[in-house]
Amino acid sequence: MFDSKKHDQINPPARLLMGPGPINADPRVLRAMSAQLVGQYDPAMTAYMNETMSLYRDIFVTQNRWTLLIDGTSRAAIEACLVSAITPGDKVLIPVFGRFGHLLKEIAERCGADVYVIEKAWGEVFTPNEIEIAIKSIKPTLLALVQGDTSTTMLQPLEEIGKICHDHGVLLYCDATASIVGNTLLTDDWQIDAVSCGLQKCLGGPSGSGPITLSEKFVEHVRKRHHVESGIKASHHIEGSGDRIRSNYFDLPMILDYWGEERLNHHTEATTMLYGARECARIVLQEGLDNCIARHELHGQAMYKGLAAMNLELFGDLNHKMSNVVGVVIPPGVDGEAIRKQMLLDFCIEIGTSFGPLAGKIWRIGTMGYNARKDTVLTTLAALENCLRISGHQLTPGAGIDAALVVYG
Ligand SMILES: Cc1ncc(COP(=O)(O)O)c(C=O)c1O
Repeated sequence: MFDSKKHDQINPPARLLMGPGPINADPRVLRAMSAQLVGQYDPAMTAYMNETMSLYRDIFVTQNRWTLLIDGTSRAAIEACLVSAITPGDKVLIPVFGRFGHLLKEIAERCGADVYVIEKAWGEVFTPNEIEIAIKSIKPTLLALVQGDTSTTMLQPLEEIGKICHDHGVLLYCDATASIVGNTLLTDDWQIDAVSCGLQKCLGGPSGSGPITLSEKFVEHVRKRHHVESGIKASHHIEGSGDRIRSNYFDLPMILDYWGEERLNHHTEATTMLYGARECARIVLQEGLDNCIARHELHGQAMYKGLAAMNLELFGDLNHKMSNVVGVVIPPGVDGEAIRKQMLLDFCIEIGTSFGPLAGKIWRIGTMGYNARKDTVLTTLAALENCLRISGHQLTPGAGIDAALVVYG
């Protein structure tokens, strides 16, 4: 029975989310998401769809016509790219340097790919040469790679990978969920065929929409498997020669028909998420993409220097760290989960835990999107210093904040 005391209106505690994402959404995004719905084919709605495509071309730094949203979280966008590109039996190469490389492997396997993996220890990245050697020996159809693997906080350099792939006739897919607009990503200049992301990191929105961009070559590849649903098929729809894509929801050729001029019905676009995604991109572009990346670098640097000054060891190959998240080695004798709990309950600040080989070994602290700010960095450092001091960790009081303030000049 409905109990009005038990089922009060949702009223979440006022947390400051300083983990690896999600982070607090920009209030402007939340406001955009409270706008009323319009019909799926209302000219206002189709105009918003076109505007969103155009805004995300600037976010992905691309001229790709096919730049749009997949409804679902970031992994929905990954699945849409992979299930549409991979015909069962295709060879797919995945360089894995953290949890999200394993996710690409898992998804590619479910798509029926013949998956080949090269692996790095968590905390390291690949050289272009290592990737080229693997491409030459395996001769895959597709290479799938994460740019910023939040699980390790490492950023894989991508500048040369696209050219290497194209020299060997390989398509390149990249998961930029955690890195986009906090780190440079030049889709066209770096010749990446498909990129996907999500809103809940540096874009400053909630999870639930997965922006993607696809090169002409990638679209040509997936359109070989263009089969329109029989209930909406018309005589002008020509069947592709390839196998039907093994997912209806993530069938990119059909999704492109919906986002394209024909507006052929597929799913019902998640209107509220589209409002949010559009606002995320609009806010970044209003700030200026380069300024947004520089802001992530500045606050990431202040956080990083502040933590180091608190007698904490930072994790991984720091020359390849993402600007927007840092791994902190939990000092010996300190109970990592107790500190996280105290941060949350006493200070209302969330910092991240870790997975797999790093579980219980590092915290992950993010400075992303709406939360990449001076006040959030200083507040987090102050709270963490307090928790660490109580736990018996040796540090010089005030050193963390002082070091961060030096970065701010
Ligand atoms: C690099 C990367 N890829 C994929 C994902 C999966 O995203 P989602 O939880 O939105 O599906 C995440 C989430 O943290 C991520 O950091």
